[in-house]
Amino acid sequence: MKKILVIYYTQTGQIRTILDSIISGFTDMSMVEIDYAEIKPSKPYPYPWKEAFYNSFPESVKGIPCQLESWDFDLNKEYDLVLLGMQVWYLSPSIPASSFLQHPEIKIFLRGKNVVTVNGVRNMWYTSYLLCKKYLGDAGAHYQGNIVMYDRTDNYIAGITVIAWMVHGKKKLALFPQSGVSDEDILNAKTYGQIIYSNLIENTLSKLQEALVFAGAVKVKFHLMKIEIVARKIFVKFADFVLKKGSYESPLRKTRVALFKYYLLFVFFILSPFVSIFQMLRRWVFYSSANKQIRIFQGLKP
Ligand SMILES: Cc1cc2nc3c(=O)[nH]c(=O)nc-3n(C[C@H](O)[C@H](O)[C@H](O)COP(=O)(O)O)c2cc1C
Repeated sequence: MKKILVIYYTQTGQIRTILDSIISGFTDMSMVEIDYAEIKPSKPYPYPWKEAFYNSFPESVKGIPCQLESWDFDLNKEYDLVLLGMQVWYLSPSIPASSFLQHPEIKIFLRGKNVVTVNGVRNMWYTSYLLCKKYLGDAGAHYQGNIVMYDRTDNYIAGITVIAWMVHGKKKLALFPQSGVSDEDILNAKTYGQIIYSNLIENTLSKLQEALVFAGAVKVKFHLMKIEIVARKIFVKFADFVLKKGSYESPLRKTRVALFKYYLLFVFFILSPFVSIFQMLRRWVFYSSANKQIRIFQGLKP
């Protein structure tokens, strides 16, 4: 009997649906004991976000933790696997997810544990993955697998629809496709569950990531990855600039947050299509070094 902790944070329920689908792929439920727990900020983040959407940017980018409610799972239980369901906020683990990963009690809990992260995101998750890897490494956990479920719509369209979904609570905007991970992809996540289950039962978790990647669990879009690496550096500087005017609750930083909002919209909707084309060309010019980088983000040896 293998003991599994499924822990997640979610606002719309998307990541919980993905986790349920993954678990539905476990071949024999009598072989596993599963505990579920939710990461709950003491002061919940709003959904729909309205203007607060942009205000969460500095804390997300800088990994500044929020206060979390106490855990409803046993910190002393010897779990064989921890499945962490999370999402990305501003190219970083969402504030609740990063608060969880950095919490002193959780760092002790995670020491020596096998961890698989499951991300439900728009499509920019690359630097968040590196941060997760760092948090888990600091805690002494064994990062055995990463799954990325994303919105397959074109980057530009998904940028419009995610704002409608997150800021205004409209998952389906007029003639645009529905925002978020598609129902079909969520259903197919069952396959990842089968892979996790067999590697867990056969004690071959060290081979898990390779099998997950082979099954399509981590698709790397080179141009988005390259854009993100540069964008993150700018985001860090912008976050410091906003934080000089105070923390999350401070009304003094309103103007700087608004500046960030217009900067983001300009860069995303005006600049990014050109940079994307440039990076798409680079992918083929620097083919073998690009492949190495892709493998790193897939969690494989370069
Ligand atoms: C404040 C905020 C920032 C976000 N930033 C990103 C991002 O940088 N990259 C990305 O792929 N998705 C981003 N998203 C989308 C989320 O990763 C996620 O798909 C969405 O919040 C739904 O997750 P949930 O309902 O499970 O919480 C963002 C969402 C929010 C609320």
